[in-house]
Amino acid sequence: MAHQLNRSTFGDPKNAGNLMSIEEAHQLLNEWVPNERLRLHMKQVAAVMKAWALQREGADELTARKWELAGLLHDADWEKYPDDHCRIIIEELERRNIDPEVIHCIASHGPRYFGVEPQNKMDKMIYAFDELSGFVHASALIRPTRYEGMDVKSVLKKLKTPSFAAQVSRDDISDAIARIDHSLEEIIQFVIDNQKDVQ
Ligand SMILES: [Fe+2]
Repeated sequence: MAHQLNRSTFGDPKNAGNLMSIEEAHQLLNEWVPNERLRLHMKQVAAVMKAWALQREGADELTARKWELAGLLHDADWEKYPDDHCRIIIEELERRNIDPEVIHCIASHGPRYFGVEPQNKMDKMIYAFDELSGFVHASALIRPTRYEGMDVKSVLKKLKTPSFAAQVSRDDISDAIARIDHSLEEIIQFVIDNQKDVQ
């Protein structure tokens, strides 16, 4: 579905620090993404990215907003332009003169599909969080109490069950975890803790 981007640089370095507001990003999502489930996925990844930046990377407010924006917008073109997924939102953000790090982060959230390698920590974390966020949410949805009382062990067990949420690539998850100095267990726990209240 998605195509290789065949590019390695994104945005213009002179736009460093140029971010849209979270409200503007939500407005873009409301226009581009009618599917509520997909919007929720992006809001969940955004919440996890922002929390990680603030709690684990010691990020300031502006840097945390970069992480949050990348999460909020990474699949923004997926519903309307499935065959050009990633290319359309990248070009939109370039037109809006958005910080190149945000655009590179979005471009590298699926190296196998888009052909762009994650470089900095923000890139590597969106790659790790993206599939796991969707997987954790799928796991929550089949529990009567949803996120309440959910533990890492039960998520790990489901990961080993190929028929559960079969569309989630276990290979991508292993590849993403291999690129960071954090365990799968740690990342799953962080996802549970930081996306459970997102609506
Ligand atoms: Fe995603």
